[in-house]
Amino acid sequence: MIHILVTGANGQVGQELQRHSSDYPEIKFEFASRENLDISNQNNVSQYIEKCKPDFVINAAAYTAVDKAEEDQENAYLVNAQAPLYLAKACKNIDAWLLHISSDYVYHHNPKRPLKENDETLAQGIYAKSKLEGDNNVIISGCKYSILRTSWVYSSFGNNFVKTMIRLGQSKDALTIVADQVGSPTYASDIALALLHQAKTIHSNPEKSKIYQSVFNFSNSGQTHWADFAREIFSIADINCNVGHTTTEAYNAPAPRPLWSVMDKSKFSEVWNMELVDWKKSLRDCIALINEMHTPSD
Ligand SMILES: NC(=O)c1ccc[n+]([C@@H]2O[C@H](COP(=O)([O-])OP(=O)(O)OC[C@H]3O[C@@H](n4cnc5c(N)ncnc54)[C@H](OP(=O)(O)O)[C@@H]3O)[C@@H](O)[C@H]2O)c1
Repeated sequence: MIHILVTGANGQVGQELQRHSSDYPEIKFEFASRENLDISNQNNVSQYIEKCKPDFVINAAAYTAVDKAEEDQENAYLVNAQAPLYLAKACKNIDAWLLHISSDYVYHHNPKRPLKENDETLAQGIYAKSKLEGDNNVIISGCKYSILRTSWVYSSFGNNFVKTMIRLGQSKDALTIVADQVGSPTYASDIALALLHQAKTIHSNPEKSKIYQSVFNFSNSGQTHWADFAREIFSIADINCNVGHTTTEAYNAPAPRPLWSVMDKSKFSEVWNMELVDWKKSLRDCIALINEMHTPSD
């Protein structure tokens, strides 16, 4: 039996882990929401993990309000930078693995090819900088860790671009969407499955720990920009809404956004022997689930 503690259990990735958990009878899950386990409270973290004694801690908790972080710097750093260190130290004390999630935003430059894990990190904005500091804190902590850097996350849970587009597209004839940021959408369900695959693989092959302990880029395969992402959502959801283009500069969001977020995921696929799912396929799966959730059963 593999024992996994999930923090931030009510977030997109946390809820996807809950949704998939019944397919893993060999794993004993413990799901902790912010109410049960506040990862920014070091005593709370050390006591909880000491008592729970999991083999793996999946940190699905984060401060993800990118624009709000610009004026809430202290909390963003506490949750995204300091708390991962608390988790890492607690994991080290009981020899557990920390499976941590990070962001494409840490790179923020365009080498004119997909970004690799060892590329420079030029994080801009509070959210990106706090996530990068979190990664570095985990790496230097001395615990056993794996970090997944992912991008453009959506799911049938919580608030995200896909659900917002479906809601807006149903009430408006046209929308203007940013078309100069290129990246790879990622279904939180695929992140959850990747994390569970990592835990099972590490558990079965402890002698390969040195290969598994690293930073990995992870997203769905393929690339798009936000306006085409919206068009694909409308096409799959059968919504008639025109999409016009705008630029990042004209949109003028409070926090800076990287124009290039496409990551090279070959290291993940090779080390974990897991194929990536095409972004359009995962989008269809997610929208089918959203439709199912909103179809009256009687
Ligand atoms: N969303 C994206 O587009 C995106 C892109 C790249 C990377 N990522 C990374 O992917 C990971 C998962 O993201 P997500 O989209 O699943 O995030 P999410 O839906 O915003 O969920 C984050 C969860 O963390 C919880 N949380 C916040 N502060 C906490 C604390 N102090 N203690 C315990 N729980 C706390 C939140 O609780 P409340 O709801 O109560 O605040 C929420 O349930 C994060 O590491 C994020 O940085 C996300």
